[in-house]
Amino acid sequence: MAKAANRAQNTAEMVRVGVVGHGVVGSAFTALVARQQETIAARTGITLEVVRIAVRDAGKHPSHVGTAVVSTDPLAVATADDVDLVVEVMGGTALASDVIRTALEHGKPVVTANKALLAAQSADLFKIADERGIDLLFEAAVCGGIPLIRPLRESLRGEPIRRVLGIVNGTTNFILTRMTEDGLDYAAALRGAQELGYAEADPTADVEGLDAAAKIAIVANFAFGVHVVVDDVAAEGISKITAGDISMARKFGYVIKLLGVAERDAGSGAVSVRVNPALVHLQHPLASVREAFNAVLVEGEASGSLMFYGRGAGGDPTASSVLGDVIDAAVNLRKGTHATLGTFAKADFASPDDMRSEFMITLEVADRPGVLHAVTGVFARNKVSIRAAEQDGIGSDARLVFLTHDARTADIKACMAEFARLDVVSKVGGYLRIIGA
Ligand code: NDP
Ligand code: HSE
Repeated sequence: MAKAANRAQNTAEMVRVGVVGHGVVGSAFTALVARQQETIAARTGITLEVVRIAVRDAGKHPSHVGTAVVSTDPLAVATADDVDLVVEVMGGTALASDVIRTALEHGKPVVTANKALLAAQSADLFKIADERGIDLLFEAAVCGGIPLIRPLRESLRGEPIRRVLGIVNGTTNFILTRMTEDGLDYAAALRGAQELGYAEADPTADVEGLDAAAKIAIVANFAFGVHVVVDDVAAEGISKITAGDISMARKFGYVIKLLGVAERDAGSGAVSVRVNPALVHLQHPLASVREAFNAVLVEGEASGSLMFYGRGAGGDPTASSVLGDVIDAAVNLRKGTHATLGTFAKADFASPDDMRSEFMITLEVADRPGVLHAVTGVFARNKVSIRAAEQDGIGSDARLVFLTHDARTADIKACMAEFARLDVVSKVGGYLRIIGA
């Protein structure tokens, strides 16, 4: 076996790789290439050789990693004559965009894990890659180690996809899991996530849903064949979720998850892309996705439901996705071909106020006669039908929690505005969407 692998490697063509960024993902990638080099050569006839690496702070790094030279000049990697293919795992948008554009313009395929950049500039970058006939691949940008973009782009290209629902951020899933299973409040669960290295010192991008928004925007491009950028995504995070919301959801048979949702109305074709915390029925497949794991449920008309599950972050899982793309791009480069990203139409976006779902609504009210009558009158006036209700005493006040039947978001918002004006309501809590079993 080993002999066969060595023979294949000796006759293999070399593809020289430049790696921009050698942090969590970059260093895991170069280590994985070293570990898998012979196997890749045996299977593809191509030897991958990392020849250049760029970092920001030379003082933190050795001058060489294996035979690769380490420098602090990312653009030099993108233009170097001895680099055939560029891996961008530096992050950020301005310099990363320059690196990717420069590499493509120099005829070098690019593999990137940079969701923030793709979710902002996908149209432009895809166009450059397609016009040049060069690969731009980015499996790792969405849900790290989970193969999702390629299945959407290739296997499901003809599928009439109705909806994609995903837990696409590991940090927030970890925080919500700890709140649910250990009864922690949000601040304590966030501290735990920071201690374990899931959440950054500044956790805004994760907890306010911005990281998930970038990922679901990229997914929506391929699910529906339309241009979606991160600014098209209505994003709401988990920082306002309370231990009370979690325990109430539990009482009704739900768990709270932060979901990225991309859906298309079958009739009008209008697309809605959003990130919001939601009550997920305990029997729904996404309810059992715990800790920092990610999972994405694709609902197709012909395929039925497909679930993708695994580690959405971390050096090794993300490097695995990067390496898969690098091998494809290297094989395509040698064959003189490239993967087609497809063409993307202008999206017709549904108004967020027209989106329908069931909701959980929480209010704190005075605990005295006639209060329930006043509150239910607000629902009736706004054509919102109540499915279930629960009352908990909190001193001289009470917490009222309602589950509604299917309702328009605009009607729910109108209810919330009216509740705020009622004397008997001391606090208007949030409204959360419900995803059934
Ligand atoms: P890190 O912060 O661990 O590493 C970033 C690397 O890029 C470092 O080596 C850093 O250099 C280098 N770098 C940063 N700025 C510059 C610059 N101006 N010039 C040259 N080099 C620079 O990031 P990650 O590895 O975690 O993430 C990389 C990318 O992968 C990001 O786009 C991220 O969103 C994406 N990603 C990350 C995942 C993860 O689990 N970490 C999962 C999925 C995607 P130095 O070492 O000198 O500081
Ligand atoms: N911060 C991200 C998460 C990992 O928590 O899922 C990178 O995508």
